Amino acid sequence: MTEHFSQKIFPTTQLEEADGDGHNPSLNPTMGEIIGKRFSRRGFLQGSLAVSAIAATVGPVALMSADKARAASGSAFSFTEVEAGVDATHHVAEGYDADVLLRWGDALFTDSPAFDPVAQTAAAQERQFGYNNDYVGFIPLEGSSEHGLLVVNHEYTNPHLMFPGLVTIVDGKVKQGALSKDQVDVEMAAHGGTIVEIRKVNGKWQVVPEGKLNRRITANTEMQLTGPVAGHDRVKTGADATGRKVFGTLNNCAGGVTPWGTYIMAEENFHGYFSGELPADHAEASNYERYGVPEGGHEWANFYDRFDLAKEPNEPNRFGWIVEVDVMDPTSVPKKRTALGRTKHEGAESIVAANGKVVFYLGDDERFDYVYKFVTDGAYNPDDRAANMDLLDAGTLYVAKFNEDGTMQWLPMVHGEGPLTAENGFASQADVLIETRRAGDLLGATKMDRPEDVQPNGVNGRVYVMLTNNTKRKADQVDAANPRAENAFGHIIEITEDDGDFTATSGKWEVLLKCGDPSVAEVGATFSTATTKNGWFGMPDNCAIDAAGRLWVSTDGNSNKATGRADGLWAVDTEGDARATSKLFFRVPVGAEMCGPLFTPDDETAFVAVQHPADGGEDWDGHGRPSYYEDLSTRWPDFKDDMPVRPAVVAITKIGGGKIAV
Ligand code: FEO
Ligand code: CA
Ligand code: CA
Ligand code: CA
Repeated sequence: MTEHFSQKIFPTTQLEEADGDGHNPSLNPTMGEIIGKRFSRRGFLQGSLAVSAIAATVGPVALMSADKARAASGSAFSFTEVEAGVDATHHVAEGYDADVLLRWGDALFTDSPAFDPVAQTAAAQERQFGYNNDYVGFIPLEGSSEHGLLVVNHEYTNPHLMFPGLVTIVDGKVKQGALSKDQVDVEMAAHGGTIVEIRKVNGKWQVVPEGKLNRRITANTEMQLTGPVAGHDRVKTGADATGRKVFGTLNNCAGGVTPWGTYIMAEENFHGYFSGELPADHAEASNYERYGVPEGGHEWANFYDRFDLAKEPNEPNRFGWIVEVDVMDPTSVPKKRTALGRTKHEGAESIVAANGKVVFYLGDDERFDYVYKFVTDGAYNPDDRAANMDLLDAGTLYVAKFNEDGTMQWLPMVHGEGPLTAENGFASQADVLIETRRAGDLLGATKMDRPEDVQPNGVNGRVYVMLTNNTKRKADQVDAANPRAENAFGHIIEITEDDGDFTATSGKWEVLLKCGDPSVAEVGATFSTATTKNGWFGMPDNCAIDAAGRLWVSTDGNSNKATGRADGLWAVDTEGDARATSKLFFRVPVGAEMCGPLFTPDDETAFVAVQHPADGGEDWDGHGRPSYYEDLSTRWPDFKDDMPVRPAVVAITKIGGGKIAV
């Protein structure tokens, strides 16, 4: 989701007013509060990153061409890149097919009703693919890369693009009318996730509607709270005196697939669904303030009391968790694993460490918030799936502190240790987890530029942190790990855990890439000089590591106005002379962001999720005015007058078969 939550609820014409400041009031030092420390010394001294930084600033022709030749010859990616730009449709590198696999409203079951956009119902939506696909995972069946379960998050809804007759234009601006209860019910059914069997037949992926494991999860699906917070008074409500039974999951952004084949859905901007005011002097007031609750972006509280703080003051404590779904049992109750903390979780990508423990990396997507990891107490058992099913209920959550000298610590968030005591309002580990952010504040974690996907790479042993942007960071708040004031384009940090051990509590880090247009010296971007005018990007968001260990980055926030290009999927070199070279592989239609990316184990398919297409287009000559149901900037992917724009998952394969970008 682009920027702050409310920016995507309301049409983009209202974005400026909706822009917020982040919610971290703590006085943690931002490490180097001296602007002279903006560019880390290491950045100027090491490798091609240093060369490109100098080249981008000074531009010596000889230096650039030498670097370019070295970088181009060393690239791990082989494909002809797409031209950057903005238009109504998607584009993939020459020699590849990009086939739409699943669109909003598509059938998932043999009895799914046909999609009728002017008469959509919640009952139909519950049997169809949901809205705004984000995370995409693939769980092979019988070890196959050509037959498996596709798991897809449906992060949120765009009523102005989904429902006819909702929008009027007043003074050139979009005014959205109130939603009916039926429309809210459609929204709730369009949230959550999809689990669906897919199969590759003659080189083309197909949905298997007969699949016995096919399932929709929505904002109403019964779930269980597990781990240290389960049963705590702070998560009890009128509908659930046990504090263990929650209905639904909200704003599932990125996620993960565990080594034991369960589906992880990360609850991100949950604050937007709540309205109303807490009773006076309520004990949760400061907790909710730290998370921006209530934001009131949705209208669900008009029809459902649980979203009204005045009526159900504890309900927000039941969201902001990592959800685990056993996809092999379509009747299983999804579990909210509270041991992994409560934040605006972007995702939860994992890796098995050498000692068998499983390490989950987690970003909290808010300006000035933190990077986390969770290490299970138990070890993964590859021979006994059942033995792994509750690994996520016991372990240690850590928050990251990035030091100025390129070292870092993972600070344990354990009740009774350091400042996490009753004196500071933490009576138990449950309190630490419900108020994960405040615990991070007290521990002195490093305030980051909106941490999104954090991805371990099992091939090179490093970890990649996407930091999407933070235009609110002031010059006196820059530090080595967040080195640019008014960071409009974001950056990527590479972590090397000490001794190559993913469970380590200390490590080293460096900036892999400062994003933005490298031809504009003031931007300070550090792409290698082999990167073409098409190859650079801003706002890294999600990422994937393919089987060869190569990094692919998808973006959120590029547009004609921001960068002269649509969002897309970029291939980014991390090794050797080509390090920090980027190439554009796929780009999305106007108004969309690029989510997903996920490679099948054979590297022959890349699944990508095109989220919120047509949400915008004022800044693009092809439209030039607000975009809404009756006047869309694109009708991708169907391009039919009677069919609205539809978010969709796209399967990218090489024409004639074979591994991608090889
Ligand atoms: Fe839903 Fe952080 O993007
Ligand atoms: Ca984002
Ligand atoms: Ca995202
Ligand atoms: Ca990822």
